[in-house]
Amino acid sequence: MEQSTLGERRQPAVFITGAGGEVGHGLITALSGDHRPDIVATDLRDLEHGLRKQCASTYLADVCDRDALDRLLAMYQVKEIYHLAAVLSTRAELAPEVAHQVNVNGTVNILQIAAEQGRMYGEPVKVVFPSSIAAYGFGSLAQKTEAGAVSEYEHCKPSTMYGCNKLYCEHLGRYYAHSYRQLAQDSVQGDDKNRGVVDFRCVRYPGLISAETIPTGGTSDFVPEMLHAAARGEAYTCFVREDSRIPFMTMPEAIDATLKLAAAPRSTLTQIVYNIASFSPSAGEVAALVKHYFPNAVISFEPDERRQSIVDSWPASLDCTAAENDWGFAPTHTLEQAFEEYLVPRITKQYESVS
Ligand code: SER
Repeated sequence: MEQSTLGERRQPAVFITGAGGEVGHGLITALSGDHRPDIVATDLRDLEHGLRKQCASTYLADVCDRDALDRLLAMYQVKEIYHLAAVLSTRAELAPEVAHQVNVNGTVNILQIAAEQGRMYGEPVKVVFPSSIAAYGFGSLAQKTEAGAVSEYEHCKPSTMYGCNKLYCEHLGRYYAHSYRQLAQDSVQGDDKNRGVVDFRCVRYPGLISAETIPTGGTSDFVPEMLHAAARGEAYTCFVREDSRIPFMTMPEAIDATLKLAAAPRSTLTQIVYNIASFSPSAGEVAALVKHYFPNAVISFEPDERRQSIVDSWPASLDCTAAENDWGFAPTHTLEQAFEEYLVPRITKQYESVS
């Protein structure tokens, strides 16, 4: 247990928000197998029993409720925060102001807590933030095709509330890491207690595909939905055209990459935000593989114009060179390997065990 500058002793902890979501599932399992400080997890809903067992404590808490967060964090010294709570792109378009409240104001609360804790204990609090391909935005399909693989600082003109929120929060993270309260009294008198108290690191996730869970409220959901429907023996109507192409990776790859970025020495990181992705199939290519492994699958394409335009505004592929060079990111699967080695065996077992 460590002592704060105020003399209080608190339990060291890794704090996870939005812990009940898809990424939370994978992350809690990976972190709990590691010798880490205690996991303190929050979500709006109760976590399932299996996840709860892997955490030191779990709380029902809204990231927008600063008082609730303060009350529960009063017991811990937060070393790292994985801030996963968010309203995804499709759901955010149904209630944009609510999405802004959760995605932006929730993130400000987390960054402020990190800054306060970093200052109190005199060591930086690591904030690991998942951003998204939604941070990009093309005005037309022709522009998307012409751009090819995009790097982190190109084409950042998101067309969704979720994308705007994620892009802005990336900037907020940089601000808290480098310029927080730069004109405050305690910053201008030489003894800068605010600088470096937040160690902000961010990955831009592509669409994620898990064999264990199904996403809700996203626009890249057509790939996991198609696969899970086939494994359950249900027909699936895909809401985008067959030629729609965006980057994806499997959930275990995303978790590994996130933890690898979190563990990288600060001195090796040359930027705040990193693209990661493993493959960029079209919806039609995914459907063909799904049918290969589940020959009875019934998949049809009935594009929803509005969700299609969101997918068309996202890049077809990502340039991940910075992540490769700075912290050794490397995809472990091609799309075919992902199906053969991870998705199909795990998903088949999962639905066999429930039938
Ligand atoms: N999966 C996210 C969404 O569809 C994009 O990163 O909203």
